[in-house]
Amino acid sequence: MHKVLLIISGGIAAYKSLELIRLLTARNVQVTAVLTEAAARFVTPLSVAALTGQRVHTELFNHEAEAQMGHIQLSRMADLLVVAPASADILAKAAHGLAGDLATTALLATDKPVLMAPAMNVRMWLHAATQANVATLLQRGVGMIGPDDGAMACGEFGPGRMAEPAAIAERVYAMLGAGAARSSAQTDAEPSEEAGVSQAGQRGAVAGVMRGRHALVGQNALVGRHALVTAGPTIEPIDPVRFISNRSSGKQGYAIAGALAALGARVTLVSGPTGLDVPAGVDRVSVQTAREMLDACERALPADVAVCVAAVADFRPAHAAELKLEKASAASLALVANPDILATLSAHAQRPALVIGFAAQTHEVETFAQAKRAKKRCDWIVANDVSGDVMGGDHNQVSIISDKGIECLARRTKAQVAAELAGRIASRLGPRE
Ligand code: CTP
Repeated sequence: MHKVLLIISGGIAAYKSLELIRLLTARNVQVTAVLTEAAARFVTPLSVAALTGQRVHTELFNHEAEAQMGHIQLSRMADLLVVAPASADILAKAAHGLAGDLATTALLATDKPVLMAPAMNVRMWLHAATQANVATLLQRGVGMIGPDDGAMACGEFGPGRMAEPAAIAERVYAMLGAGAARSSAQTDAEPSEEAGVSQAGQRGAVAGVMRGRHALVGQNALVGRHALVTAGPTIEPIDPVRFISNRSSGKQGYAIAGALAALGARVTLVSGPTGLDVPAGVDRVSVQTAREMLDACERALPADVAVCVAAVADFRPAHAAELKLEKASAASLALVANPDILATLSAHAQRPALVIGFAAQTHEVETFAQAKRAKKRCDWIVANDVSGDVMGGDHNQVSIISDKGIECLARRTKAQVAAELAGRIASRLGPRE
């Protein structure tokens, strides 16, 4: 019989954990519950005990329980620890290794897999502190399910609702290896069919698949994978005060690095100069020129996936002057071509299994992008139409071109594009076995 230690933390969603217990015990999973002090205000230990058929644990220093079963043993006797609902508070404590009560002590003491089902107010979920804590936990291999979008008890709408007990139960069976076939198909399925990939040359508008895709890709789907992302512009010095560069903000590349890290990947972000903060869980290597960027990328190999988002300057001055040039001599510059980082990675002896390029176009976007995919020998090209407010803005409209054809996504935020792409990468690669 499989054993689950269910930690119920405080929040209105705690009542849903009763349904989770019912579903798990009905499938012959033994559930032992730990209630935090706050949880005990939402559900009574008595009802939890009645449903689990087990003694309910509520305090760290319960001498009788300590004598029978220490808190360390409590976390070890289970095959899996599930935290549902996981409040912002318990996510923060787990991320920082605090162990002030029985629930957090069990989380710190365990050597077993952990699954968390966050539930909280939308603003608390979206707060940078919570997102950083979640990224930390994902990087450590903690599984996350949800939260779902929807109307919340506090009257607001957005992500924050605890995943449905049935979905959590399915994930639990998958993690336990019991009834895994059905559940893994539901949680980590290849999503591209649902998104409607069109045949090459035909545009297939794909709108509104964002939520579905989030639910479909397991949030630790890239654990054990290494992702290399290039972002931002490069700057190519003319002399100590002048350079050649472009208007790339780096926002899309940074968002992709963050989205890959949020799925548990180790991410190396090789970035030209931007004013952006490093996303949670990402290692940034800062560079200036195309040649430095290539060098940093090659040093970061091996990687499972490379996503080249950087707007690399195609040319650099043949000679960067050591002293400031006088106007007359700066008037005509001899230029030489820069190395193509995407093409180099595609042809590399340590080629990542998946190499993805971006193609910024202002017209005939897909035709040029197709040609670029062939020329640079990458697996996918994400073509973006930069004729509008894309450069420096927060929105993007992209088409993903692969050997399966062209998939045209509706205009959305760069963060949403990043999440979409990370989801597709996860579906293609999956976590390292
Ligand atoms: N790229 C790269 N190294 C370069 C130039 C481009 O890695 N020296 C990558 C970009 O990061 C992007 C893709 O190649 O993923 C396409 O870049 P783009 O500048 O649009 O392509 P070019 O080949 O320079 O084509 P164009 O003639 O449109 O400038």
